[in-house]
Formats: sequence, structure tokens, C-alpha cells
Amino acid sequence: MVFRVRESSLEQERLNAICPYFTMFPLSVPVKQLAGVASDAWVLDPFCGRGSTNYAARLLGLRSVGVDSNPVATAIAEGKLVNVSADEVETACAEILACDTAATIPEGDFWSLCYHPKTLTELCRLRSALLNDCRSPGRKALRALILGILHGPRNKGAPGYLSNQMPRTYAAKPDYAVRFWTKNILSPIYVDSLELVRRKARHYFASTPVGVPFRVYCEDSRTLKLATLGNRFSVVVTSPPYFGMRTYVPDQWLRYWFMGGPPTTTYRQPSQLSHGSAMDFAEQLAAVWTNVAGACTPGARMMIRFGGIHDRRARPKDIMLDALHGARCKLRILTVRSAGLSSRGKRQADQFKRTLRTPIEELDFYVRLEEPS
Ligand SMILES: C[S@@+](CC[C@H](N)C(=O)[O-])C[C@H]1O[C@@H](n2cnc3c(N)ncnc32)[C@H](O)[C@@H]1O
Repeated sequence: MVFRVRESSLEQERLNAICPYFTMFPLSVPVKQLAGVASDAWVLDPFCGRGSTNYAARLLGLRSVGVDSNPVATAIAEGKLVNVSADEVETACAEILACDTAATIPEGDFWSLCYHPKTLTELCRLRSALLNDCRSPGRKALRALILGILHGPRNKGAPGYLSNQMPRTYAAKPDYAVRFWTKNILSPIYVDSLELVRRKARHYFASTPVGVPFRVYCEDSRTLKLATLGNRFSVVVTSPPYFGMRTYVPDQWLRYWFMGGPPTTTYRQPSQLSHGSAMDFAEQLAAVWTNVAGACTPGARMMIRFGGIHDRRARPKDIMLDALHGARCKLRILTVRSAGLSSRGKRQADQFKRTLRTPIEELDFYVRLEEPS
């Protein structure tokens, strides 16, 4: 068995930032957990978000599986794992725009103020074509890239995003955004989507890590039978939603629209963990840990990062300990360590002046999974 630690360059790490995602962990967290893992290991993240764990596995030459029930998350994760060149991404975009694909163009104040009409037409054609067929690596990478440039701040020089002024991390709600643009007399400018894709593809895909086998599932980790996927995992690195954090879908509504959702804010997605009581939340997590253990080799290591938000009184440590003790498998909690305070800068909220409250301590739970009972 070969143990390997690959050196990754900063250029190779760029791709990890292709699109922001709420409460993603820094790449250094999974890289540290996976350094020194045997080269034939399979890595699992059952709440993969934008695929930080999977990307760390790729950097280290390890095979991985990611699961997340939010299609925005899995599209970003896939785009970071496919093996493509910048030219292939650009070609995928050029081919779509060269065809006169019929596309539904949303109407209303939000849409006419968010995008220039010509940019919106191009965007809708890209959306329609990618919804119709997103099988090739070039298209998967293009989809992740567009999710990353869909909205963001307006710079002085060449545009970096397709939209009018917006935060990059989350999409402002339509009414709020319309009021903001109107008050500040901000009209959208024409952004040439192909030119922007070309520039961004050169930035993100110029130097990518060697491709490794991977799979990403847009599924509910409580119910997807992980044991039937055909892999035995020896390392799990993950971070479930914090109890009370329900904003993954509404805060990403514009990206969710690009993935086929409605042209307005979506609030509910039943395949997300539900946030009723702390006890119910711990039970759902326990079901996921039981499921994970059934797909792991005996002795597999699991690291879970978990924190909390202010709206909920329940202590994150108690919730996770309940969840681990409630799992129907043999596991040993090795240690629980503080990971420090969740940083304030996670959302680029400056443009829309959102107030952020004091961060809460995050904890890392180190667990050894023995076997399902
Ligand atoms: C804290 S985020 C993970 C972020 C990830 N570590 C990263 O770096 O991008 C938690 C994720 O759990 C996902 N999630 C919530 N309920 C889920 C479920 N039932 N099954 C799978 N994923 C779920 C959310 O969509 C969200 O992406």
C-alpha cells in the first residue's frame, strides 16, 4: 500500500473557489484530514456542499464520493472534479450560444434590472441547453463556472459577473434587489457571456490537479443507500448543516433557478434536513451516520465539523453527541476539539449591508466507525 502526500500549487487550488457556497469549510480542513491517507482509499462526504472534501481528495490523488441534496451544491462539486481544459469549457459555451436554442426568458422588474436583455437571452439559452444535456465534462465545468459568475459585484474594469450589482455569495431577494437598484440608479450593462466564460475558464482551468475517479450524487443522505454504491469508504470528512440553518436554498435562489428551479425565491426543499426540534435534528443525523457506517470499512475514520447559529438555544455539542450515540452502528468518539470561531467573512454581505452576529464556536468530532450493528 502506497502512502502519498501530493504537493498542490496555488494555481491548482483556484478551481476550488469557482463558486462560493454558504458555510463551506476552507480547503485546508479536508486537506489536513486526508494527508497521509492510503492511495487506494475511497473518501466520502455525505453533506458535500460545493465539494471541498472531494476537491481535497482530488488534490491528493484520492478517489471520492460526494452526496448533497441541493442541486446547486452538487453542480459546483462536479464541475471541480471533471477533468477538462479551459479550451473545452470555452468550446462548450461557444457551441451552445451558436445554436439558436429556444429558451424561456423570465419577465418582471427583477429580471430587467438584474441582467441586460442581451445578457439575459444568452444566459437563458445556456440554462436551457445545460438543463437539456449536461453529460460531458466540458458542460459540467461550464455549468459550475456560470453558477459562479451568475451574480456578483460590479468592478471598475472588465465585468467579472453577468448581473447588475449583487453580492457574490448569496442572491438578494427580488423585491429587496429591485429597491436597491432603483434607489441607487443602477442599470445592468451588457456583459458578453462568452467573453466572460473564456476569461474565467482561463483563470480556473489553466492548471488543474490530475483527475481521479469520483462520483457526486444529488440525493438525500438519510435515504440514499450508501452501502449499495459499490464503494467501501475508509475516510469520511464532512460538515452537516448547523441546526437552524435553513438558508441553503433561499439564499441561493438565483443559482437554483439556473439549475431548473422557478424564477423566484424557493424556500422549501424537502430533501434538506428539517430543523424542527433539536431532538428530531439529532435523529436525522443519527440516520445518516448509520447509513455512512454501513458503507465504510471497519475502523474507518470520520471527522465532522459542526457548529451552531444564534437563533437556536440547543448546544451544538449536545446535538452531535446525541446523533452519534443514536446511530445504529458501533462507533467510538475519539475526541472533540474546538475549531475556533466561525468567521464573519463567510458571506460577502457588504454590498447589501446585511448585519452579521457574533460567531459561535465550531467543533471537530473525531470518530472511529467500527461496523453496522
Ligand atoms: C455545511 S454545508 C456543507 C459544506 C461543505 N463542507 C463545503 O465545504 O462546501 C451542509 C450541506 O448539507 C446539505 N444537506 C442538507 N440536508 C441534506 C440531506 N438530507 N442530504 C444531503 N445533503 C444535505 C446542504 O445542502 C449543504 O450543502
